[in-house]
Amino acid sequence: MDLDGVRSSIDIIKGGDGHNISGGELDHPRSNHYYFFRHLFKAVLLFTLVTIACFVLFNQGGAGGSPFQFLPTSFYNFTFSHASNSTAPAAGMEEVVGLEQLLKRAATPDKTVILSPLNEAWIEKDSIFDLFLESFRIGNQTAGLLKHLIVVALDQKAFDHCLGLHLNCYFLKTQGVDFSGEAHFMSADYLNIVWRKIDFLRTVLETGYSFIFTDADIMWFRNPFQQFYSDSHFQVACDKFRGNPWDLNNAPNTGLMYVKSSNQTIQFYKYWYKSREIYPAKHDQDAFNMIKRDPVVREIGLQIKFLDTAYFGGFCQSSRNFDLLCTMHANCCAGLDNKIHDLKILLDDWKKYISAFTENHDNNISQSHPISWSVPQSCGIAFLIHVNFEFWYQTNL
Ligand SMILES: *[C@@H]1O[C@H](CO)[C@@H](O)[C@H](O)[C@H]1NC(C)=O
Ligand SMILES: *[C@@H]1O[C@H](CO)[C@@H](O)[C@H](O)[C@H]1NC(C)=O
Ligand SMILES: *[C@@H]1O[C@H](CO)[C@@H](O)[C@H](O)[C@H]1NC(C)=O
Ligand SMILES: *[C@@H]1O[C@H](CO)[C@@H](O)[C@H](O)[C@H]1NC(C)=O
Ligand SMILES: *[C@@H]1O[C@H](CO)[C@@H](O)[C@H](O)[C@H]1NC(C)=O
Repeated sequence: MDLDGVRSSIDIIKGGDGHNISGGELDHPRSNHYYFFRHLFKAVLLFTLVTIACFVLFNQGGAGGSPFQFLPTSFYNFTFSHASNSTAPAAGMEEVVGLEQLLKRAATPDKTVILSPLNEAWIEKDSIFDLFLESFRIGNQTAGLLKHLIVVALDQKAFDHCLGLHLNCYFLKTQGVDFSGEAHFMSADYLNIVWRKIDFLRTVLETGYSFIFTDADIMWFRNPFQQFYSDSHFQVACDKFRGNPWDLNNAPNTGLMYVKSSNQTIQFYKYWYKSREIYPAKHDQDAFNMIKRDPVVREIGLQIKFLDTAYFGGFCQSSRNFDLLCTMHANCCAGLDNKIHDLKILLDDWKKYISAFTENHDNNISQSHPISWSVPQSCGIAFLIHVNFEFWYQTNL
């Protein structure tokens, strides 16, 4: 569970009920028991409202579509369009052919690509996307993975930016888009976009390609392929890993998934997409949580496996051993600025680790210095809320 979108909702709270509750008669000079209890009541009420708001948010908030939070509001009409030529009009089979060519060009010998969604808000200078790319460069033998990366641009600016960086770019084209607005977290448009991602991933699988889906707020430090399981076609990262990779009670984070193209996974993606009809107000990650135990999933024969946070960590549950770490996700974090702040520190931590490692190696010292994370910092407050929420959740449900 990721806490993206909390920022905008906190703004709503501030501008709405919160404002009214904390205003009014608080400064009134007449002070007696009546006012004391009245203020106490207000404080309790405010606390309750914030708690409920947090609950609703956390309950709905999924990680999968973090960048989608900033997307335009009028997002009803989607079509796939192919990369390379931004002016190429979107049209039926032609697009799928374009996608196929791109997949062919980017894929590893065993037909696997790395897919990462990108939108305008994530490309500004010093942005999440810059940090994402930097992690590949400073990671251990990860630079070569960039040629397998396909950036799934969600708007024209992100697409142009991607082309300028000479990456593999795919324009998940949308028509009738007003780029001036933002899709509010969990609004109808936001949900459309998030679900479109699921549909797109199904297309990739049907084309015969496997993928690692990664949000751009996940830093890549080592090649993860060695850490994937060989006995599962569907592997998903976790906010909280409970120790058993088969345990469906693990808290998944669909911001990082490794999915092999097979009949099972294609059927599962169709089923997942269809589950939107049953859970219209749910985010894709929440829907995943609802359907993961369905008999249909068992009938399909899908083996769902959860990735260990020791290798695929995040701010929710850090990977403590730098020697094992493959990726780190800025999950359990609200707000883009907080994410960027903490991810920069995260990259510095990694650089320190690498230089200590190299130094030891050069001086023939076998033991590496123990290094620990300096993060989360700015993300810490969101983290705290998260912990409190979990306590609330566990004691109330
Ligand atoms: C999508 O857009 C096309 C052309 O822009 C239009 O013909 C079609 O009716 C639209 N579909 C929906 C569902 O709005
Ligand atoms: C795309 O652009 C390239 C040159 O950048 C050109 O050779 C190719 O014909 C174009 N394809 C389409 C479909 O327009
Ligand atoms: C980086 O990878 C190489 C080859 O796998 C390995 O020998 C080396 O120890 C790794 N360095 C770190 C810091 O993990
Ligand atoms: C998928 O199913 C079809 C027919 O049901 C079969 O021909 C094909 O070999 C299967 N493919 C895989 C990868 O299992
Ligand atoms: C490094 O240390 C090991 C023993 O710890 C020794 O066998 C080896 O020769 C040393 N290598 C160098 C290059 O000094």
